[in-house]
Amino acid sequence: MAKGKTTVFFCQSCGHESAKWMGQCPGCRQWNTFVEETIEKTSVRKIQKERAAAGPVCLSSIDTDKEERMTTHMEELNRVLGGGIVPGSLVLVGGDPGIGKSTLLLQVCQKLSADDRDVLYISGEESLKQIKLRAARIGSFSNRLRLLCETNLDLIRETIREEKPKVVIIDSIQTMYNEDISSAPGSVSQVREATAILMQLAKVLGVTVFIVGHVTKEGTVAGPRVLEHMVDTVLYFEGDRHASYRILRGVKNRFGSTNEIGVFEMRETGLAEVENPSEYMLDGRPEDASGSVVSCSMEGTRPILLEIQALVCHSTLAVPRRTAAGMDYNRVNLLLAVLEKRLNLRLSGSDVYVNIAGGIRISEPAVDLGVVLAVISSYKDRAIDEKVLAFGEVGLSGEVRAVSQAGQRVQEAKKLGFTTIILPEVCREQIGAVDGVRLCGVRTVADAVRLVQ
Ligand code: TYD
Ligand code: MG
Repeated sequence: MAKGKTTVFFCQSCGHESAKWMGQCPGCRQWNTFVEETIEKTSVRKIQKERAAAGPVCLSSIDTDKEERMTTHMEELNRVLGGGIVPGSLVLVGGDPGIGKSTLLLQVCQKLSADDRDVLYISGEESLKQIKLRAARIGSFSNRLRLLCETNLDLIRETIREEKPKVVIIDSIQTMYNEDISSAPGSVSQVREATAILMQLAKVLGVTVFIVGHVTKEGTVAGPRVLEHMVDTVLYFEGDRHASYRILRGVKNRFGSTNEIGVFEMRETGLAEVENPSEYMLDGRPEDASGSVVSCSMEGTRPILLEIQALVCHSTLAVPRRTAAGMDYNRVNLLLAVLEKRLNLRLSGSDVYVNIAGGIRISEPAVDLGVVLAVISSYKDRAIDEKVLAFGEVGLSGEVRAVSQAGQRVQEAKKLGFTTIILPEVCREQIGAVDGVRLCGVRTVADAVRLVQ
């Protein structure tokens, strides 16, 4: 080992550092993610030197007039960003390979350059020809957009300094490398160093930098989680690769709220915004089928209606099978236990499968009541009227607890033609009467079950 160099082991999934190799990462509990990397101290010093060169300033001399946000002309994206792009911010866009990150960012480039802003798209993954082919599907582009295929960060830094674009896209961070660091591109040290350099460029020059980061399952390449704490905003692009819609979720945002989602649809001509996600989620709902109930979840400031499906069938296994797709597995088990104990439903001999249709992931407990009713409907093999919607949190004693923004949920349900809404009694009292919809307040799960029978 050369002088001044040490090797450490990094978890490629979460960046956990260790002096020894370990089979399981104590940070993120992933297996076989530790990779040995050499770390050099010099590069860190170099960055610090450059940072200091910018010099301290007093608070009063900082100009905040320029803090105006740049619009991407895509409402779904603007909302997730907290109202547009903040100049000088560092945004990480993570997601599985092939989900549409490059497409989304190329569309952002299209809109921003059309607004007469200089945009630089740096690709380390694709050739100029490949980018051109993608661009041809998306539409026409202004000449204010420049492309560069490069992976050497020193050259990228020089180019950004010279060209002074307003927005830079780095596609992807895992392909970038710094000559001062001997480990391979995509390793934790390279990815961190690259992000630190880009962060410093963003802050000193006031350029907004979008970084693409692939989520990898194998743990051979450092994932975006390693960078989450370094950047201003973290967005994840989710969705089933085989289904056409995509969800952009804000996970961290120094300039806005983090619960927002944006819904897009992948078309032949790039990503299109989905303005009414509820309609989209309920598309293709089965008619008169048992085990299907519609519920409502708030995603940030927006209510989204979704179909909850349950299938209860006789089990031949000693330990019955339970699965939950799109929901927390433990939450589903808890709700099944409530049904078993409070409603004397014999579920211990049945396999139970719960699925949120459309592949969206929900973490809000407001869908509890929907899950409970779907399970009962499938258990009894009796369909629930398709114009019924149910929401409310279910507690351990089988009580139905209040949820936030009930009024907004009811309005969304009404808009989509639901005529009966089962909701917590407390919420019903707050809302009062709503024209054209029958509001049924319930205090316990048993009340709700009586209503749908
Ligand atoms: P891409 O943006 O390359 O994904 P990522 O950068 O996240 O790896 O998207 C690739 C997929 O999107 C690919 O399967 C083709 C599809 N696609 C369309 O369906 N329509 C389009 O207009 C474009 C540009 C891509
Ligand atoms: Mg890509």
